[in-house]
Amino acid sequence: MLVSAEEMLKKAKAGKYAVGQFNINNLEWTKSILLTAQELNSPVILGVSEGAGKYMTGFKTVAAMVDAMVDSLGITVPVALHLDHGSYEGAKACIEAGFSSIMFDGSHYPIEENVAKTKELVAICKEKGLSLEAEVGSIGGEEDGVIGAGECADPDECKAVADLGVTMLAAGIGNIHGKYPDNWAGLSFETLDAIQQKTGDMPLVLHGGTGIPEDMIKKAISLGVAKINVNTECQLSFAAATRKYIEEGKDLQGKGFDPRKLLAPGAEAIRATVKEKMELFGSVGKA
Ligand code: 13P
Repeated sequence: MLVSAEEMLKKAKAGKYAVGQFNINNLEWTKSILLTAQELNSPVILGVSEGAGKYMTGFKTVAAMVDAMVDSLGITVPVALHLDHGSYEGAKACIEAGFSSIMFDGSHYPIEENVAKTKELVAICKEKGLSLEAEVGSIGGEEDGVIGAGECADPDECKAVADLGVTMLAAGIGNIHGKYPDNWAGLSFETLDAIQQKTGDMPLVLHGGTGIPEDMIKKAISLGVAKINVNTECQLSFAAATRKYIEEGKDLQGKGFDPRKLLAPGAEAIRATVKEKMELFGSVGKA
């Protein structure tokens, strides 16, 4: 059964560790992440962007696949199925489709409009027992064709949105999606500290988990980050392992062209990346 992310994130914030959100793209991704979470006895959040949802033929397909897979694999650790960077319409579609957690990214709206729309979704999610993530200050980099500049959120605006009753809050602190450029200035811990002081117990979310150095991840957790999103890193691991398989000519040997064989090294590589992140985030054994 899928669960809301509320309880796992409250525990993470109180216990000073973070739960990983790993984005899924297909069956192999989902299976690899679920099996690793179960093996490590870690709670986990499966992230689905609107683009990935469309790719998998719709949010209903995704919810049905994840729900059935949790059951078929005998997964007993807490699993939340979460819409990543949802639009207002996307959020409503995922609520309808059976997701257990929603992110409404209203960071591109003026703050008043972000607040109004978030407020409406807070009421719907509360009624249905779903967790809701809001965002203040856009996260840089490119995701699904949306490019942000990596700004730092205003702590007062963070407090205003946190007070609406959301479950967790994503705030820009100089983080960006995708690979970090060589001249990246790093995370703004000053901003994070100010946000945590204003928002108290609210679990904070760090997007753009790929490529953030380990010491910065640990410091961010110590300053209230309880959820860390990782997407690109699994894609890079998958692609490198698949490339190696083909470059070694393994697809040309015997039945090496069978998709179950061809995709196996990539799936294993995702498992290794997820394991590494769960160990770094401190969520191992916290299910
Ligand atoms: P990365 O792709 O940089 O890991 O970011 C993932 C993310 O924040 C999804 O919302």
